[in-house]
Order: sequence, then structure tokens, then C-alpha cells
Amino acid sequence: MGVAVVTGANRGLGAEWVHQLLEEGWEVYASYRTEIGRLSTFDNPNLTIHQLDVQSNSSVEMFAKNAPSQIDLLINNAGVADGRWRNLTEIDDVWALEVIDINALGPVRVVKALYEKMNHESLTKIGMVSSLMASIDDCHMGRSYAYRASKTALNMFTVAMKKEAAEDNIAFVILHPGWVKTDMGGDRAPVEIPDSVSGMRKVLTSRTLENSGQFVQFDGQLLPW
Ligand SMILES: NC(=O)c1ccc[n+]([C@@H]2O[C@H](COP(=O)([O-])OP(=O)(O)OC[C@H]3O[C@@H](n4cnc5c(N)ncnc54)[C@H](OP(=O)(O)O)[C@@H]3O)[C@@H](O)[C@H]2O)c1
Repeated sequence: MGVAVVTGANRGLGAEWVHQLLEEGWEVYASYRTEIGRLSTFDNPNLTIHQLDVQSNSSVEMFAKNAPSQIDLLINNAGVADGRWRNLTEIDDVWALEVIDINALGPVRVVKALYEKMNHESLTKIGMVSSLMASIDDCHMGRSYAYRASKTALNMFTVAMKKEAAEDNIAFVILHPGWVKTDMGGDRAPVEIPDSVSGMRKVLTSRTLENSGQFVQFDGQLLPW
């Protein structure tokens, strides 16, 4: 299989990525920010865990330094919701910048730091976990200002990086996991965690340099920008 890196892997979708990739035979290098959570339940010699805060350059550098020398798959999953305001007069600029720092710049820091380990002869795939809430065409409900803007910025970073990366045999996909029953998605979400991750894994199998940078839902549907 190869070596996979998963960020935000202690709970929610990230922990399930680790579970399914280990089952499939991948060697997995997974990150947690503070608590190791579900990562403590995997008794598998192919799993290595390391602390990572995607907001901190020094943490990202340390994470990359300790990563395996060759990486074949990166799942940039770590992210936060905003959810702190109900209307536009309550937009908190300090928190908004933090959400953008974590959700848009965090994954870019990780790509940069791991880039040399992903640049090798065989194709490397990078899943950037975004959201349908990034879609400008689909923004009918408004609100969630910082979250939406952060994921839209993540999408643009990804599309802008794909050309240079293709020259180094690296393909991106921008993933929407669906509305999933996690701490972030809440109990009312219609999609179960295992179904979301198995769907996104299937999307990954069809990734090439030619379709790099597409915005794809967990069930394979292409999404509007
Ligand atoms: N659930 C949904 O319906 C849904 C829909 C669309 C997109 N997404 C996206 O899917 C991804 C995973 O979401 P989820 O539902 O699994 O959320 P979750 O259960 O809230 O988990 C979020 C993960 O991200 C980590 N994280 C947050 N800030 C971080 C930072 N600064 N550095 C490193 N790790 C950090 C968290 O670590 P801690 O435990 O330390 O906080 C946790 O492991 C996110 O990018 C989210 O935006 C989710």
C-alpha cells in the first residue's frame, strides 16, 4: 500500500481514516493536537502517532521531521467550525482569523513541510478535507462566515498549488465528507462516519494528475465552486 499521513486523527473523521487505512494495509502516521483519543484504541504496529497543531509552524516542522522519509498519501483533515455567532453583527474578527489560520493555512503548512517527502517517482495523492460550505455557488443559507471563507480559501490554495505539484507527480483532491455525525456535524447529520470515509477513499482511488484539484463529495459527485 504505502505510507499515509492523517491530521486531526484523534476523533471524528480523522480517526476513522486511520482505522480504514490500517485495515487496508497502509502504514499510517497520524496526528493529535492534545488528547490521543481514539488513537489509543488501535493496536497496530503500522501506526505511529505524533503531536501536531496545524496553527504552529514549529509544531508542523517537528511533525514533518519525524514523518517517514517517503509519503504516498496525505489526508489534511484537521479543522474547526466557527459557530460562535448568529448574525453578521456578531462576526468576531479575531476568531475569524483563527478559523482561517487553522482551516486554510494549516493544511498548506502541512503540504509545504511534507513536500519533499511526497515528491518521488510514484504518484502521491493529497486529500484536502474541505466542505460544501466552501461553495460560493451553493451559498444559499449564508451565516457560518469564517468557516465558509476558510474552506473557500482552502479550495483556492489547492487549485493554485495543483499545477506546480503535478510537475512533481503529486495530485490533489478537494473533498466534501457530506454532513456527518461527528462532534462538528452533530447528531442530526444524516451520514455515518464509516460511510463518509469509505466513500472518500473510493474517490481517492480514481485520482490522477489529469483530474487533480477537483471538488468532490464523498459519494463521487462533482461540486460547484
Ligand atoms: N462533520 C461534518 O459534517 C463535516 C462536513 C464538512 C466538512 N467537514 C470537515 O471534515 C474535517 C473533520 O471534521 P470532523 O467532523 O471529524 O470534526 P471533529 O470531530 O470536530 O474533529 C476535528 C479534528 O481536527 C482537529 N483539529 C482542530 N484544530 C486543530 C489544530 N489547530 N491542529 C491540529 N488539529 C486540529 C481536532 O483536534 P482536537 O481534538 O485537539 O480538537 C480533531 O481531531 C474538518 O476539516 C471539517 O471541516 C466535516
